Amino acid sequence: MSERLIRGRVLTFVAEPQGIDDTASYRYFEDGAVFVRGGKVVETGNYADIRKLAGAEVEVADHRPNLVLPGLIDTHLHFPQTQAIASYGAQLLEWLNTYVFVEEQKFSRPAHAAAVADRFMDELLSNGTTTAVAYCSVHPESVDAYFSAAEARGMRMIGGKVMMDRNAPDALRDTPQQGYDETKRLIEKWHGRGRAHYAISPRFAITSTPEQLEMSQALVAEHPSCYVQTHLSENRDEIAFATSLYPEAKDYTDIYARYGLLNDRMLLGHCIYLSDREVSVLAETGAVGVFCPTSNLFLGSGLFDRDRFDRLGARWSVATDVGGGTSFSMLETMDEAYKVLHLQGQRLTPFSSFYRMTLGNARAVGLENHIGSLHSGADADIVVLDSNAKSAMEYRMRTATSLLEELFILQTMGDDRCVAEVYVAGKAMKGKGKAVEKRVLETA
Ligand code: GUN
Ligand code: ZN
Repeated sequence: MSERLIRGRVLTFVAEPQGIDDTASYRYFEDGAVFVRGGKVVETGNYADIRKLAGAEVEVADHRPNLVLPGLIDTHLHFPQTQAIASYGAQLLEWLNTYVFVEEQKFSRPAHAAAVADRFMDELLSNGTTTAVAYCSVHPESVDAYFSAAEARGMRMIGGKVMMDRNAPDALRDTPQQGYDETKRLIEKWHGRGRAHYAISPRFAITSTPEQLEMSQALVAEHPSCYVQTHLSENRDEIAFATSLYPEAKDYTDIYARYGLLNDRMLLGHCIYLSDREVSVLAETGAVGVFCPTSNLFLGSGLFDRDRFDRLGARWSVATDVGGGTSFSMLETMDEAYKVLHLQGQRLTPFSSFYRMTLGNARAVGLENHIGSLHSGADADIVVLDSNAKSAMEYRMRTATSLLEELFILQTMGDDRCVAEVYVAGKAMKGKGKAVEKRVLETA
């Protein structure tokens, strides 16, 4: 069984940071190591102790002076939009019609879906993201491509076929029955296979008829271990349109509530213009609001009110929302999150940012026993971050005097260039380690 020590400055969270320098919320080992065996973390701690535990023979991947953290987690993005990032000039509904619904039609071709899925997984990994929750296109083939590409890399991934039966081009519409049947088949095929988890995915209230939301409700009731994902309250025109389609609903959130879709496995993208009542409904049901800062700025959507979620006790997570979002990098995402909150007089501390990208997002998807931290028994999904990767960062780092400051520099100036290595179930996938891994395979 493959074993290795991953050595570096190890940082892993145990709780949500309660203040700017809440040292009880994390474990930090200046000369630390993670002992990995058979794709799992055996133990994490000081190098000297872990070395004793692992024995003299064990292979050491020495990443000093870089930071070693749990792999990053992205809780909302769209795999078919990998080549639609940076589409100019429109707000949500016009952007969807002009660019996204054109791009997504290409995914009826399995070869195209497979090629983009490969590229998508590699982009995630090169940005240090080891688990993500993604929408596929309406085509079941796109889901096969998505989970096949994840499986080939050994990644723990969540995703599902978009269901939409109105307000979309003919080529992208299913019917309530077809959406139900295809989703059911895909759940049977993928959910729980290896590291795959299925997300039942009615796109949003605008593109689903009441009949399709009823079918979604049936799927959720029949498959309680699946996730559910949709979009909520991202843009003012969207809200007006959605609520006009469901006049009986109290508000946008109530549309989903009426179809029994809100539960603690539900991820709701954006949640910008919610009333206190709506945030309270999310709090009561345990549904998670997903903050997508680069997307919300790029599409001119608005500012996520994090403090209101916290005040009303509602859960929230962070995500890139590629391709409304402009980067696969969770570091760049947290940079924009900081600015979005700052504009509203709210603070995001560096420890909170790194908590959110790891344990916080793992908790949002209920997978904290497996991912998001480096406790013994966790999956060995690990990212190695180099705070000196860019010359401007290296220059800035010369004046940094604390871990807190370093994390803030990483988040504010960092991107994929800072990801020196990424391990998926203990296997190196990016840096020099990938070449070694390949040589080992070739000579085996
Ligand atoms: N609402 C419905 N579909 C989408 C999408 O693909 N991206 C974003 N940002 N919002 C949506
Ligand atoms: Zn989205």
